[in-house]
Amino acid sequence: MKPGLIISRVLPAPVEARAAEGFAARFLAQDGAFDAAAFLAALDGAAAALITPADRLDAAAIARIPATLRVLATFSVGTDHIDLDAAKSRGLAVVNTPDVLSFATAELALTLMLAAARRAGEGERIVRARAWPGWTPTYLLGTSLQGKTLGILGMGRIGQALARMAQGLSMRVVYHNRRRLPPEQEGGAAFIADEADFLAAADVLSIHLPGGAATLHWLNAARIARLKPGAIVVNTGRGTTIDDEALAASLASGHLGAAGLDVFPAEPAVPEVYLGLENVVLLPHLGSATRETRTAMGMLALDGIEEVLAGRSPANLVA
Ligand code: DGY
Repeated sequence: MKPGLIISRVLPAPVEARAAEGFAARFLAQDGAFDAAAFLAALDGAAAALITPADRLDAAAIARIPATLRVLATFSVGTDHIDLDAAKSRGLAVVNTPDVLSFATAELALTLMLAAARRAGEGERIVRARAWPGWTPTYLLGTSLQGKTLGILGMGRIGQALARMAQGLSMRVVYHNRRRLPPEQEGGAAFIADEADFLAAADVLSIHLPGGAATLHWLNAARIARLKPGAIVVNTGRGTTIDDEALAASLASGHLGAAGLDVFPAEPAVPEVYLGLENVVLLPHLGSATRETRTAMGMLALDGIEEVLAGRSPANLVA
């Protein structure tokens, strides 16, 4: 008999086809707000479940998961939507989808860097409003990234991929991390141990921090004040890492030059403070959103589920 697998949302077709073949799969196809009650009810008798970062399972929800469930996969590298301690104490294995999304997420960070520096969002809005007065030598001038310093906060796999891309733009790359990486992983980026020195060095700050209590509002008014006048802030990690009121105030005051944000603390809501600002580019959490990457993420999640059900410890086991 095939093991039961409950899948919360619509997944790329090749992933759904593999799930249907290898498992007694049930596709809840919830693509709006997560209905935790319906999800938990569907788990009855299932051995595995696959959720996404938009599906929050706190300790109370995990306590209601039936004992038959052995593995929970998340279609994400981030796990801040799952109470991992609760999962662990209940003996529930959790697997995620690292590595396969690093390049796509770095591409999106680069997209935001360029869009913010070259005022692409503002320009697009002007064109669509039929308000473009025509080419002039001083119209909508932005900032070149060539020769500027990119500061990467959190030099994991996504940060490392972004460092390599930025060097193609002739940027100097520095990073700040809990610990210095071995030189082969630094890829030419320079480690700055002191946080204040790191912030003062960056023309562009790209944030690659996990979510959760430890990183809540990491970028606050005091740290923003340490950034150079005109600096650009980009975030493709988790929205909770930024104090939105402080960032918006700095963008409005002209201290920071621009920002590019792909993630927000209570998605799909976007903090109102950004909506009236021209110098912030806002995207709907598109970091890993390529056909290739989303298929690879689904396949990796299924690999992890199969490994756990076979009694093995996959490399993508997080708890
Ligand atoms: C993740 O994987 O955590 C992203 O936020 C979704 O791609």
